[in-house]
Amino acid sequence: MCGIVGYIGAQKVLPILMDGLKRLEYRGYDSAGVAWFDNGALKMVKSVGKVNELGRKLDYGIESGLGIGHTRWATHGEPTEINAHPHVSDDGRVVLIHNGIIENYASLKQKLIERGRTFQSETDTEVLANLIAENFTDDLAAAVRVACNLVEGAYGIVVISPEQPDRLIAAKMGSPLVIGAGNGENFIASDALALAKHTHSVIILEDGEMAEVTRDNIVTKTIGNRLISKVIQETAIEVDRIEKGNYPHYMLKEIFEQTRTVKDAFAGRLLPEEGTAHLGGISDVMPRIENAERIIITACGTSYHAGLIGEYYLEELTRIPVEVEYASEFRYRNPILDEKTVVIAMSQSGETADTLSALKEARRKGALILGICNVVGSSIARETDAGIYIHAGPEIGVASTKAFTSQVVALLTMALNIGRRKHIGISAGKAIVESLRRLPEDIQQILDQADEIRNIALQLKEHQNALYLGRGLNYPVALEGALKLKEISYIHAEGYPAAEMKHGPIALIDNNMPVFFIAPRDEIHDKVISNIQEVNARKGYVISIGNPGDARLRELSRHLITVPVTHPFLAPLLTVIPLQLLAYYIAVERGCDVDQPRNLAKSVTVE
Ligand code: AGP
Repeated sequence: MCGIVGYIGAQKVLPILMDGLKRLEYRGYDSAGVAWFDNGALKMVKSVGKVNELGRKLDYGIESGLGIGHTRWATHGEPTEINAHPHVSDDGRVVLIHNGIIENYASLKQKLIERGRTFQSETDTEVLANLIAENFTDDLAAAVRVACNLVEGAYGIVVISPEQPDRLIAAKMGSPLVIGAGNGENFIASDALALAKHTHSVIILEDGEMAEVTRDNIVTKTIGNRLISKVIQETAIEVDRIEKGNYPHYMLKEIFEQTRTVKDAFAGRLLPEEGTAHLGGISDVMPRIENAERIIITACGTSYHAGLIGEYYLEELTRIPVEVEYASEFRYRNPILDEKTVVIAMSQSGETADTLSALKEARRKGALILGICNVVGSSIARETDAGIYIHAGPEIGVASTKAFTSQVVALLTMALNIGRRKHIGISAGKAIVESLRRLPEDIQQILDQADEIRNIALQLKEHQNALYLGRGLNYPVALEGALKLKEISYIHAEGYPAAEMKHGPIALIDNNMPVFFIAPRDEIHDKVISNIQEVNARKGYVISIGNPGDARLRELSRHLITVPVTHPFLAPLLTVIPLQLLAYYIAVERGCDVDQPRNLAKSVTVE
């Protein structure tokens, strides 16, 4: 996924573009570039690496009121300056930035070469620039429209030309684009986050839509050239929530925000007297959910791990069979679905291409489509029949933390709501509601141990491998803990069901292998203790997450981090916190870029 920003107005363009790119850098940071007009002449600066590298090359004081900027997550072509955006047509008449993949770029490129066009880069984006130029006579918007009707694949593009230096052209198919409406100035970005300092009034472009943007006007059309009127929505992004504040990294801030964000995930939804939760976003389709024959949760990465926890909740409380599927697998395996199936798409960003495609496939087969998302108005949220927003606020750190716990809370409140309509009694419901209400203070008790957890991390930072083991509801926590460690510290880590260790992974155990056990007191606690003894018998390095007063666990563990006792269903919401902190501190000690780990992007909007 890439970051896109465009500006037209009376202010100096470079400070606006660079501030926007900094806020979008979580979307991809292999390379960056900006282009603007200086008395009609095209100026462009690009750099490999982070946005700061680009900033060092710029004179922010230049007087220009129109420009575009891009920060890239490489898809076609290595992260080099030549492959960095913006890209220019070979005749210099068209300049564009692009997020997405043009799937038929090779055939288009061949045809353009036959017509004498030349290319400098390996990118699909440059093909689009030359394709627009090939169709550009005196109307840039018309040329963009023609080109968009020739390409297959996903794009969010912003296009400018020195021949029409008073407008930006935007077009959207599959990759997000918003138009920010200002006073005597207008903006374009791939995420409203980039515009929060300047305007909260945004137009969200849908697939197949484009906009012609001047200082004082925004004309929206379809790529079929039909004029359309679009609603200007007011975003609620507070600037302070997208700043690091006193934290060294967004990830640490977001870990510590969880005392508030889990509360925001259930605020206004719990009904303590009735031992249930009300979820307005799915109430209209509740009859179809209650009577579903099957529920499928589809997601990627951390959201997939949250879905695995949701599987336990939904099956236990609703007795409806649940499966959890990687979205990238689900969409290609011709799943057996019908109108009695409910498909839940889980996505923090709401822009993950695999998840978006999976839910479109489910819709084609007649299933009811629900979304559990964080970003309001995101592509996945807009594609679903109904859904639940998790209200975690902008999550900037590439490694997901607060979104995970808020997704799990949303799944629990959903399972409780359905279960209490079926056969879950009020006392069982009240027990869950009461534990949810205590959750913020329980999390705070863990965060208060941050210094001790950091001291443990200091002893683990040199290791190159790690195993995470848990059972039942804590098996997905093992997977999530392993993902956190590997994606920010680059240590190879694997999560397994604790019992599964005996069927192969135990061969890895020696005194150099850290093994993290998630072992709160529950009905299978003694089984986990047996697994720990098996690891100790092979001199493994055991780090356990358990409850206070567990003398046996303390005796068997090199390090023990305790979490408060809570309802068994809420244990994952607590046991994950130490693992988030351990991964963070280990990565910091290893000198890794915690907020923008190598090769990653915050949301993968390409397949
Ligand atoms: C999580 O730490 C990773 N950054 C990644 O696995 C992420 O969860 C995955 O790409 C799904 O993103 P989404 O929730 O925005 O769809």
